Amino acid sequence: MSESLSTGPTLDLSEEHIMLRDAVRDFAQHEIVPIAAEFDESGEFPLDTVRQMGQMGLMGIEVPEEYGGAEMDTLAYVLAMIEIAKADAAHSTVVSVNNSLVCHALLKFATEEQKQKYLVPIASGEKIGAYSLTEPMSGSDAATMRSRAVLNAAGTHYVINGRKSWVTSGPVADTVILFTMTEPEKGHRGITAFIIDTTLPGFVRGKKEPKLGIRASATSELGFDDYECPVENVLGEPGMGFKIAMTVLDAGRIGIAAQAVGIAEAAYEASVQYAREREAFGQPIGGFQMIQQKIADMKTRLEAARLLTYQAALAKTRGKQTGARYTLEASMAKLFASETAMYVAHEAVQIHGGMGYSKELPVERYFRDAKITEIYEGTSEIQRVVIARNELELR
Ligand code: CAA
Repeated sequence: MSESLSTGPTLDLSEEHIMLRDAVRDFAQHEIVPIAAEFDESGEFPLDTVRQMGQMGLMGIEVPEEYGGAEMDTLAYVLAMIEIAKADAAHSTVVSVNNSLVCHALLKFATEEQKQKYLVPIASGEKIGAYSLTEPMSGSDAATMRSRAVLNAAGTHYVINGRKSWVTSGPVADTVILFTMTEPEKGHRGITAFIIDTTLPGFVRGKKEPKLGIRASATSELGFDDYECPVENVLGEPGMGFKIAMTVLDAGRIGIAAQAVGIAEAAYEASVQYAREREAFGQPIGGFQMIQQKIADMKTRLEAARLLTYQAALAKTRGKQTGARYTLEASMAKLFASETAMYVAHEAVQIHGGMGYSKELPVERYFRDAKITEIYEGTSEIQRVVIARNELELR
C-alpha cells in the first residue's frame, strides 16, 4: 500500500510531526490493536493503555511542558488522534476529551493556581479529566440546562444540585469541568463553569451508558447532591460558562474530526486489502468496477476529510497568535469527516460482505464506532447550523 494511504499526500509534515506520528502509530498498532476487540466486547475501561499514553505525553499534547504537557501544536494532536483512532476509536475518545475539552479549557481559562493544581496532573496523564455540559433534557440546546449552583451565604462555596448525562470518562474521571446554571434568569449568560474535584461529598457517579460503539470509553451520568464547590474552583468568571463551553467545543470538534479520519482510514485500508485478496467469479473482487467505484469514492472523501481536519488544526494554531476564532474550520472538519467515517465504514462492511458483518474482523466495530462522530460534541445538524450562521452572519 502506498505511503500516501496512511499519511495523506496533502501536507509536508515537519520532522517532529513525522517522528510523533510514527511513534504513536507504532504504539497504537502494537499495544492497542491487539486488545481493541476484547475491550469493545467487555466494555471495560482500558486503564493500562491510557496510562501508557499519558507517559508518552499523549494526554496533554498541546499543553506547555511547564504544565505537564508535550508542548506540541494542534497538527501534532490531530496526527496522534488519527493513529490512535485507527487502532481503536474508544481509546481516541478518552484522549480527545482529555486533550481538547479538559486541558484546553484549563489552559485557556484557569488561574495559575488552578493550572498547577488541576492541569499539571491531567496533562501529564496522572489523572483523567471529563467535560460535563449535557443533561437528560438538554443536549443540542445546551443553554436550557436544569442543574443549579447557588452561592452560600458566606460566599465561600457554590452548592450544586442536578444531573448530567453522556459524560465521557465520567466513571473514571478525577476532575470534571462542569457547566451549570448560577443565574437562570440570564439564560446562557447565567451559566458558570466549575472545576469539580470528584473526591468531594455530593458527587455521584450515575449509571454507565450501554453504547453501540466506542464501548471501551466509559460514559455515564453524573449526579450532584448538595455538592459544595469552593469559589476558588470557578473556571473563568461567573456567567462565562456558555462561552467557555463553546470555545472549548471548537477545539474538541477538531479532535472528533481527527478521530473520524482515523476510523475511516482503518475501514478504507481493510477494504483495499480485502478487495485485493478476496476472489469471486474467478478474480479478486477489486477487479470489478462496482468495487472500484466504492474504493475511489472512499479514498477521495477520506483525503478531503483529512485536508479539512489539517486546515482546522492550522487555523487553531494560527488562532493562538492572532486570537481569531476557528469555529467555522472546526465545524466543517467535524461535519465532513464524521459523515465520511460513516460512509467509508458503511461501504467497508458492504465490500466485506458477510465478513463485514462478522465479529471476527474489526470492520463491524469501525461501523459501530463511526456513528458517534456524527452525534457527540455537536450533531451534524448543529455543525450545519454553526457553518450556515457563520456564513450568513446570523446569530
Ligand atoms: N466560541 C465562543 N463563543 C461562542 C461560540 C464559539 N464557538 N458560539 C457561540 N458563542 C457565544 C456567542 O457569541 C453568544 O455570546 P453572547 O453571550 O455575547 O451573546 C453566546 O455564545 C450564545 O450564542 P448563540 O446565541 O449562538 O447560542 P445558541 O443558544 O443559539 O446555541 C449552538 C448555539 C451552536 C446551537 C450551541 O448551543 C451548540 O453548539 N450546541 C451543541 C452542544 C454540544 O456540542 N454538545 C455536546 C456536548 S459534549 C459531549 O458531546 C460529551 C462528551 O463528553 C464528548
